[in-house]
Amino acid sequence: MGKIIDGKAVSKEIYADIKTRVSSYKNKYGRVPGLATLLVGDNPASRSYVRSKIKRSEEAGFTSYHRDMDNSSTREQITGQIKEWNNDNSIDGILVQLPLPEHLRKDTASIMDTIDPAKDVDGFHPENAGLLARGTPRFIPCTPRGIIELLKHEKISTEGKHAVIIGRSQIVGLPLSLLLLMKSEYGNATVTVCHSRTRDISSLTQQADIVITALGKPRFLTAEMIKQGAVVIDVGINRVDDPAAKKGYRIVGDVDTEAVLEKASAVTPVPGGVGPMTIAMLLLNTLNSFEIKQK
Ligand SMILES: NC(=O)c1ccc[n+]([C@@H]2O[C@H](COP(=O)([O-])OP(=O)(O)OC[C@H]3O[C@@H](n4cnc5c(N)ncnc54)[C@H](OP(=O)(O)O)[C@@H]3O)[C@@H](O)[C@H]2O)c1
Repeated sequence: MGKIIDGKAVSKEIYADIKTRVSSYKNKYGRVPGLATLLVGDNPASRSYVRSKIKRSEEAGFTSYHRDMDNSSTREQITGQIKEWNNDNSIDGILVQLPLPEHLRKDTASIMDTIDPAKDVDGFHPENAGLLARGTPRFIPCTPRGIIELLKHEKISTEGKHAVIIGRSQIVGLPLSLLLLMKSEYGNATVTVCHSRTRDISSLTQQADIVITALGKPRFLTAEMIKQGAVVIDVGINRVDDPAAKKGYRIVGDVDTEAVLEKASAVTPVPGGVGPMTIAMLLLNTLNSFEIKQK
């Protein structure tokens, strides 16, 4: 039976460390990190994510700035707000919650690109993506950074290991592949990236020492698809109907966790694995942005 990696417990340790550092900076520099969040529209899941981010940042002692903009907001109104925050020295991190409303989807990249790269704590700006690809990252996207921090915490070495990632998105799969390839202690892996056009994914995952699922398909990875003793990191967040649950649904990952645990050496659960690490990394990136400015 494999170990369940408790991402919630690890994130709590990180929050405690951030809080201590913030309170010492308050005396030393006379200010604390500032995180600005922008929510456009009324997507309930986005509202709930933003609420958690604000709550966590305030608990850590940050100053938080928030603006709610309605569904019909224009590209210019949104970039106007971002530019105002770019010029505000008390703000170290800017987060625009995605996805944007339907009529703005095509403008997502150009809106995100107006964020000052020195405040782009989500790490999506082309300048930060380029720095990561070059092997000299500034802000690492939060979910991939959270995964590396979990591996570090669990002392799961990646050096020389075969890591198979399922998913090649800009926010998870692709940056994670770059991190695992980096010439660093928790890099130096041999990386295979799979996507919807990959043939015979099982034949690849069966060779993997570490499998990372980031595709958004409930229980996609089964026990038959992994080798004995593999480490499995489940990034997926999927709603499945469950009449017995209070809300009529429950959240599952991309892994058939119970069956996979019988064969794997360690598995991250959903919920309580990678998810809690993502917000912790947002705070850590904002703290790092603040620290860079003090130097
Ligand atoms: N825990 C967290 O904090 C966190 C953070 C971010 C995302 N997530 C979750 O992680 C999952 C992935 O998120 P994302 O934003 O990366 O999603 P995304 O942008 O939709 O990307 C999904 C990726 O999976 C690939 N894919 C889809 N179906 C596949 C299949 N049947 N076989 C192989 N590959 C397949 C897609 O291939 P193509 O490129 O060919 O389309 C794509 O590369 C979602 O469930 C999301 O909710 C969790």
